[in-house]
Amino acid sequence: MDITIRQATADDLPEITALFRNTITAVNAKHYNEKQITIWASGANETDIWLERIANFYFIVAKNETEIVGFAYLKKGYYLDGLFVHKDYLRQGVASALLRTMESQVMVEEFPEIRSDISITALPFFENKYYDIVKKQKKNFKGVVFQNYIVKKTL
Ligand SMILES: CC(C)(COP(=O)(O)OP(=O)(O)OC[C@H]1O[C@@H](n2cnc3c(N)ncnc32)[C@H](O)[C@@H]1OP(=O)(O)O)[C@@H](O)C(=O)NCCC(=O)NCCS
Repeated sequence: MDITIRQATADDLPEITALFRNTITAVNAKHYNEKQITIWASGANETDIWLERIANFYFIVAKNETEIVGFAYLKKGYYLDGLFVHKDYLRQGVASALLRTMESQVMVEEFPEIRSDISITALPFFENKYYDIVKKQKKNFKGVVFQNYIVKKTL
C-alpha cells in the first residue's frame, strides 16, 4: 500500500475521530473491558479537544489513495500522545511509518528521547521498535482504571 504522510488539518477531523472510535472498539477491545472501551472511545465526541490537538500539536496523518489509514500526534515536542491505525489496515507498516516521522521530528527539536503512554494492545509494536518499558501502571481516566505502560526510546 502506498501511503503519504502529511500534517493534519481541521478538515480531517471527521475521519480522525471515526478512526479513533472504530480502532478502539475493534482492536483495543481485545485487551480492555466493555466499560473501559466505551469511556475511551467516547473521546471521539470531544471535537473541540481534537481541533485543539490538530492546531497546537505536531499532528500527522497517513493517507492511502482513498482515506486516512492512521494518525499520530506529539505533545510537548517529545511525548507521543496518540498513535492509531485504521482497523482495516493493520500490520501493513502504517504505524512504523508514522513513528519514524515522529522520531525524526523529536530529533529535529533536539530532545534526547521520545516517550509515550501506551496501551496493552500496542506493547508488541513498541517492543518491535526497541522501546524500553519505564513503568507498568494503572491510570485513572474519567473514573475508570486502565492498565497501560510508559515507554521511552533514546534517540
Ligand atoms: C499498535 C498499532 C498502532 C500498530 O499499528 P500497525 O500499523 O499494525 O503496526 P505495523 O504494521 O507498523 O507493525 C510493525 C511491527 O510491530 C509488531 N506488531 C504490530 N502489531 C502487532 C501485534 N498486534 N502483535 C504483535 N506484534 C505486532 C510486528 O513486529 C510488526 O511487524 P510485522 O507485521 O512485519 O510482524 C495498532 O495496532 C493500533 O492502532 N492499535 C490500537 C490503538 C493503540 O493501542 N494505539 C497505541 C497508543 S494508545
